[in-house]
Amino acid sequence: MLDRGLRPNAVVQYRPMQKLKVHDFLKQLLSHPQDYKHHIEHLQGAIIMSVVYGYDIKSTNDTYLRTALDANIIGQTTLLPGTILVNDLPFLKYFPGWLPGMGFQALAKEGEKLGNDMVDRPFQLVKDSMRQGTARLSVTQANLLELEKTDAAESEQAERAIAEASGSLYLAGADSTVSAILTLFLALILHPDVMRKAQAELDAVTGGQRLPDYEDRARLPYVEAICKEVLRWRMVAPAGVPHAATQDDVYEGYFIPKGSIVIANLWAILHDPRVYQDPDEFMPERFLTASGEPRDDPNLAAVFGFGKRICPGRHIAENTLFIVTASFLATYSIGKAKDAHGNEIPVGRKYTGGVISFPEKFECSIVPRPGKAEELIAAESWGA
Ligand code: HEM
Repeated sequence: MLDRGLRPNAVVQYRPMQKLKVHDFLKQLLSHPQDYKHHIEHLQGAIIMSVVYGYDIKSTNDTYLRTALDANIIGQTTLLPGTILVNDLPFLKYFPGWLPGMGFQALAKEGEKLGNDMVDRPFQLVKDSMRQGTARLSVTQANLLELEKTDAAESEQAERAIAEASGSLYLAGADSTVSAILTLFLALILHPDVMRKAQAELDAVTGGQRLPDYEDRARLPYVEAICKEVLRWRMVAPAGVPHAATQDDVYEGYFIPKGSIVIANLWAILHDPRVYQDPDEFMPERFLTASGEPRDDPNLAAVFGFGKRICPGRHIAENTLFIVTASFLATYSIGKAKDAHGNEIPVGRKYTGGVISFPEKFECSIVPRPGKAEELIAAESWGA
């Protein structure tokens, strides 16, 4: 179900929507560049809600988005090892909620309500719009249409499964892409040479007269290489998501009993100095051949996990990252911010812990590039 509507041939259909959302993002940056993190979160929320439910969020305070964001905060908090005692001592759930230290019970109740609202309300919206014939293309709609062809149509259980699959797409997809775009910004601030090289490549393709598009991708190998290096350099989930062995196994002489938790160290795989020279350096060139052609790296797929549980949103995420990188660099330059005395404010390289890792807050200066950039950003429709 997660895969339906998110495969390579299906995600192509979301590109026009992604471009429009990125255009809105460019406009928001123009008026309030200092709120860049908020704009990135809004952009990704808008893309996910459109892909999963065919729904356009109205504003930052959009009720569906707000519910999903709040549910996400509780989800992230409770996932972190050591934050919630009952995860380690399950018998605590039998204690009355008024006892000291039992605050998790109220949190669980709130989480349950938010989680249900997050799953049910936008799902109902899609069902209603399908009935009225106004539904837009979305993963939920694709799954409901598929269900209609089967004997399970009208089955509450089957519908519930679709609703929950859609809800999990939002939870898994929002923060991960936000982290990647923040890493892009950080990398560009730290490496102005990379930014200028990409801008020159973009200008050679668009002449600075229009915004770049997906059709330009083949002629933008350096921009493409930046996207790959962003995913490798500071991967979104450095320890992936834990898996468990479904049966006894032996791997390179190690016995792995059924049920063992297996954690793939993505960081070690993608920072192995035998494979990646100076792995801690941000070097898009490592994804290009000597003649500047794109170089495939089968290892890189690891950033999206493995096997049957590999990230189903990877194609949409790659498309988002490409169009954000190309559009942002075509219209803006980013660098260190300056303090009241004109001195550059240093930018740290620290990342947060947790399943998804984010760069810690950094100050930056985002300014439109000279030439037609401001006009292109302000234009009403994409490419106009
Ligand atoms: C740069 C962006 C992203 C990265 C790096 C990323 C990475 C990952 C990783 C490492 C996993 C764990 C896979 C495993 O268990 O081995 C995962 C799972 C998942 N991702 Fe993503 N992801 C990204 C964007 C997205 C987006 C945009 C969506 C939704 C449209 C999404 C939906 C999911 C879902 C639903 C799962 C759970 C799949 C399952 O357990 O079967 N992800 N992702």
